[in-house]
Amino acid sequence: MVYPGVGGVDSIRIVEESDPVAGPGQVRVRVHRAGINFADLMMRQGLYGSNPDYPFTPGYEAAGKIMDVGEGVEGLSPGDRVLAMTGFGGYSEQVVLDGSRVIPLPDSMSFDQAAAIPVTYGTAYHMLVHLGNLSGGETVLVHHAAGGVGTAVAQICKAYGTSLIVGTASAPKREFVESLGMRFVDREAEDFVEVCKSMTGGKGVHHAIDPVGGSHVMRSYKALRRGGKLYVFGASSAVKGDKRSRLTALRMWLSTPSFDPLKMMSSNKAVFGVHMGLLDDESVFSGHLEDLSGMLLRGDIDPVIDSVWRFEQVAEAQMHIHDRKNRGKVLLDFSPQ
Ligand SMILES: NC(=O)c1ccc[n+]([C@@H]2O[C@H](COP(=O)([O-])OP(=O)(O)OC[C@H]3O[C@@H](n4cnc5c(N)ncnc54)[C@H](OP(=O)(O)O)[C@@H]3O)[C@@H](O)[C@H]2O)c1
Repeated sequence: MVYPGVGGVDSIRIVEESDPVAGPGQVRVRVHRAGINFADLMMRQGLYGSNPDYPFTPGYEAAGKIMDVGEGVEGLSPGDRVLAMTGFGGYSEQVVLDGSRVIPLPDSMSFDQAAAIPVTYGTAYHMLVHLGNLSGGETVLVHHAAGGVGTAVAQICKAYGTSLIVGTASAPKREFVESLGMRFVDREAEDFVEVCKSMTGGKGVHHAIDPVGGSHVMRSYKALRRGGKLYVFGASSAVKGDKRSRLTALRMWLSTPSFDPLKMMSSNKAVFGVHMGLLDDESVFSGHLEDLSGMLLRGDIDPVIDSVWRFEQVAEAQMHIHDRKNRGKVLLDFSPQ
């Protein structure tokens, strides 16, 4: 699947190419499931900033079976079920990548679960556990609470014994968000800063997770208690429908606040900028995946799969996210038929 250039969902092309070959140190994987992330939508609109030049194939994560291994690869064999950390290129029937970027799957882990974990849970875990040192009894604010990252945040928080998760989303998702143990906030009708304050005796929350960008970031900062931590990791307010709107993106950019370190000092608040695709040390992320795999096997987490779409339906699948209909993770099915 290829993004030929900036465009709407109708710009995505399905192309036939010759089979890739695994070189030294590489493996070739037959993809069964690929994860769709919000970032894929932003890349298609030219709003992402750190994707390859067009044309390119998106897809950070995939799960499937090893077809063959290149010279020098040890511990992996054809037929092994694996998670493939593709970086890009996951929206494909076959991918070739370094052997170090695949992780063998336990028998009990399905391809759906595997493809749903890396970006959403990896990001949530990185922010709350790795950077935030999340501990029992703490309080958390999360936006897009019903989405891929949002559902991961809810499960990780529950596993760590947080006492309150405030989750914002659009109105039809109330029941779903509440079923995940969060205090639902209708993002159009309620003031989440007020809710965070009133539910914490006026103090505010320990952690606020903001993927919205723009002026929303300052509201999330205000929802924090003294000593609280804000994680800025997205800019969804730059997106308006499936076609790029330069004006919407510009508005988001111009309204994003700057922080004064002296003011932050006096409130002991911290602001983290997080981009998992640009981590320098890959071992940090593999450590997260190992911990998350343990949590999954213990039953602490279990990805919520919104839907699985045959790969030919990629435009509908991405539109489903643009239309804010997803509750959990959206996957593409590339399995042989
Ligand atoms: N920095 C990183 O490394 C990193 C990694 C992973 C994800 N992220 C960011 O985290 C956010 C969530 O990612 P995700 O992949 O889990 O996606 P997701 O939450 O499943 O995304 C879809 C949901 O986002 C909400 N939304 C808010 N603004 C929207 C808009 N302009 N258009 C469409 N939907 C919008 C909608 O729900 P409601 O309106 O009901 O809330 C929609 O259902 C994204 O902003 C993404 O870029 C960043």
